[in-house]
Amino acid sequence: AALAMVSSFVTRLGLWASGLILILSFLKLISLLLRRQRLARAMDNFPGPPTHWLFGHALEIQQTGSLDKVVSWAHQFPYAHQLWLGQFVGFLNIYEPEYAKAVYSRGDPKASDVYDFFLQWIGKGLLVLEGPKWFQHRKLLTPGFHYDVLKPYVAVFAESANAMLDKWEEKARKEKSFDIFCDVGHMALDTLMKCTFGKGDKGLGQRDSNYYLAVSDLTLLMQQRLESFQYHNDFIYWLTPHGRRFLRACQVAHEHTDQVIRERKAALQDEKEQKKIQNRRHLDFLDILLGAQDGDGIKLSDTDLRAEVDTFMFEGHDTTTSGISWFLYCMAKYPEHQRLCREEIREILGDQNSIQWDDLSKMTYLTMCIKESFRLYPPVPQVYRQLSKPVAFVDGRSLPAGSLISLHIYALHRNSAVWPDPEVFDPLRFSPENASGRHPYAFMPFSAGPRNCIGQQFAMNEMKVVTALCLLRFEYSLDPSRLPIKIPQLILRSKNGIHLHLKSLGTGSK
Ligand code: HEM
Ligand SMILES: *[C@@H]1O[C@H](CO)[C@@H](O)[C@H](O)[C@H]1NC(C)=O
Repeated sequence: AALAMVSSFVTRLGLWASGLILILSFLKLISLLLRRQRLARAMDNFPGPPTHWLFGHALEIQQTGSLDKVVSWAHQFPYAHQLWLGQFVGFLNIYEPEYAKAVYSRGDPKASDVYDFFLQWIGKGLLVLEGPKWFQHRKLLTPGFHYDVLKPYVAVFAESANAMLDKWEEKARKEKSFDIFCDVGHMALDTLMKCTFGKGDKGLGQRDSNYYLAVSDLTLLMQQRLESFQYHNDFIYWLTPHGRRFLRACQVAHEHTDQVIRERKAALQDEKEQKKIQNRRHLDFLDILLGAQDGDGIKLSDTDLRAEVDTFMFEGHDTTTSGISWFLYCMAKYPEHQRLCREEIREILGDQNSIQWDDLSKMTYLTMCIKESFRLYPPVPQVYRQLSKPVAFVDGRSLPAGSLISLHIYALHRNSAVWPDPEVFDPLRFSPENASGRHPYAFMPFSAGPRNCIGQQFAMNEMKVVTALCLLRFEYSLDPSRLPIKIPQLILRSKNGIHLHLKSLGTGSK
């Protein structure tokens, strides 16, 4: 009899629990529907392409060629259109300079519907933070990118690039064409760890390689999650195979960043190392972070510190990898510009065999080509905000606070009202005369306004040093059987890698 009582109690408990879950799900659904209605009503004045009743525009966005799909929508809908990922997350997708200025000249927070997907991985570092804490961290870290700090990095960029190029001599002899993306990625990670995290001379180890692979997986999974509404809820996502794969990759990434922090902390116990740091005129990024841990200014918790290391480790190498790889693709595709860049570099360097800080400002043609390559292949193709206050646009339309904005940098850079013949690769668009008349928000590879890229100068210097050395060593041409397929995975990647044919110019350092 006791057993029967227990079992009936358990049954009743089960019923109660299912009832509770049902009610909670129902309440959640109501709140989602109300939110949907609010977002949709706010965007009433902004028509968009037809939506699927369940997926919104996600089906089109998930296909390869989605970037150019948005460009065709941009032709159809001037300035902006609605963009729905499922039924509950709807953005105003913008691609016009005045529209971009209206939002990005202010410091509105990042859209948590998107950036919260980062939390498990890079935590609340500079990229995701908002409000006073963001401001504090930005102020704290800005000196880490001071011009005097960046100067000595030129030699480090060159060292990492030359190591990659030596490897390429071998590959170029053996293979007709090969994928450069992965090698560029390892090089960029190596250089970042040496500059920003003070890693010594030894090359990348197994753990670094694992980290590199984990990041490719994390960016792929995050983009997929963003485009699949059924994955938006944390609870559901962590139960799916993709969600579990995401957690495993996060773990690999954290093991790597934890080790970087641990090694530096250990080094600080060492007297000789301490002397070395005191003798440095400018502190590196990790010095600044650790200094703030026990200084008397702002206090960084261990969690804050890890978040910043995770943020910079990712943002500092994946973006430049994309930038350098697509730039070399452009050079291969447009041999005339490749030749002009190479001539300029040879002229500047003469018979000196290394690049100096002062040379960078003389590389005017190369710089124009880098910018033109950023225009057509922006390493960060899309960024998102949530309005903290209403905004009024030039054409009289407006949006209330709480609205979600997606700035489509890729489509902005192909806006034919600003860029005549947008598909044509023409570096002269960036000659001082031509650039001076242009809208300041027409070209935003590093975003703009208060939340722009803190690593912009670092990135431009790295781009110049690395691409100059690449052009001195090899001639690049396309492999017509394996043209890259553009695909956004937070950064701009190619679905099938970037395969180029390399011909050694016999100027190797060995
Ligand atoms: C070609 C290279 C790069 C490109 C195209 C690029 C682009 C961008 C863009 C578009 C943003 C705005 C993101 C958003 O609104 O969500 C951004 C932010 C940021 N970038 Fe970069 N970036 C590059 C290189 C770097 C490097 C080398 C570092 C660090 C060493 C870096 C660190 C950051 C950080 C920390 C933020 C967040 C800044 C804040 O919100 O205060 N980036 N970057
Ligand atoms: C400005 O751009 C046009 C078209 O690309 C080009 O023909 C012209 O030479 C450029 N002007 C300068 C001064 O570079």
